[in-house]
Amino acid sequence: MDHRVAPLRVGPVMTAVGDVMQVLWSIRLKLYAKPAEDARLALENALEPFGEAISSFETDNGKGWLIEVFSQAKPAARDVAAALKPLGDHQPEIARVPDKDWLAESRRGLPEFKAGPFFFYGSHFKGNVPKNMIGLEIDAGMAFGTGRHETTRGCLLAVARLAKTRKIRKPLDIGTGTGILAFGVARLCNVPVLAGDNDADAVRVARGNAKVNKLARQVRILRSDGYRAKAIRDGAPYDLVTANILANPLIELAPDLARVLAKDGRAVLSGLLREQEKDVLAAHVAAGLALDFRIRLGDWSVLVLRKGKTKRLTRSTVLPKPRRRGAA
Ligand SMILES: C[S@@+](CC[C@H](N)C(=O)[O-])C[C@H]1O[C@@H](n2cnc3c(N)ncnc32)[C@H](O)[C@@H]1O
Repeated sequence: MDHRVAPLRVGPVMTAVGDVMQVLWSIRLKLYAKPAEDARLALENALEPFGEAISSFETDNGKGWLIEVFSQAKPAARDVAAALKPLGDHQPEIARVPDKDWLAESRRGLPEFKAGPFFFYGSHFKGNVPKNMIGLEIDAGMAFGTGRHETTRGCLLAVARLAKTRKIRKPLDIGTGTGILAFGVARLCNVPVLAGDNDADAVRVARGNAKVNKLARQVRILRSDGYRAKAIRDGAPYDLVTANILANPLIELAPDLARVLAKDGRAVLSGLLREQEKDVLAAHVAAGLALDFRIRLGDWSVLVLRKGKTKRLTRSTVLPKPRRRGAA
């Protein structure tokens, strides 16, 4: 699984062995003001080596922030203090945590969530899917993508917008994580979807989620580094490609995307911060793609691309940041 930057670390549970991690210790760093992105990343990077799982989220209605690291071994207070020292005066708490089923805890804490026409819920949900919405059951677990993160939500909104005006027949989802985007497209457009992820755990989780949502026959999930899997190359061209996989891999994969995208197709790219838009776009323009529209959510940006030259950008949507609760 890719844990390189913040969005992949949001959420309280990443399991080390099987489905339940036996957490024994936690380092809690409570910030009483919301940190700047750089400062938050620096603190997360400093603390991450002390545990097997890290969560990082807003508290107090957006006024504060909590970074929490979970570890199976007791972290040495002196080493933690030394790691944080260059980053200011911080007072982390190191404590033993009761042994419990963190995955079940996390699932219970994951509220239902709407994004465009989609309604996401966990396996604990006993209510009804709202009328005229597409219900998908996704639990928090080892793969990224419960729909709560801006990068996923932005893709879902972009896909919903595209589906209003275009007939999507052959979609591909790269970096599928839980499978969330592939499932959303499958249900919204009522078509078969091909999905890939380079992480074996993500592929396993996504296949399980496909079964739970009765989409195992409609969504084919493969292990693939970018567009390399033979089935993905052989299946090209695709009229919709979704890829929520961070700025650098997107940049590296730009020529491959251009090769598999249909002449009048659309690519929905996510996992990039607003300040990374320029670089991601430049790599894709160099590969023969152009910006169709973009959606900005909080600090994050979703670029929707097509083949050809960029005309004047006419549609740019800036949405307010949703309140972050629970796992990504
Ligand atoms: C941010 S998650 C996105 C998950 C889901 N698609 C969503 O939108 O919530 C990124 C996923 O991309 C996968 N990934 C990263 N680099 C990749 C690559 N080069 N090829 C395929 N998958 C990749 C990671 O394993 C991870 O599951």
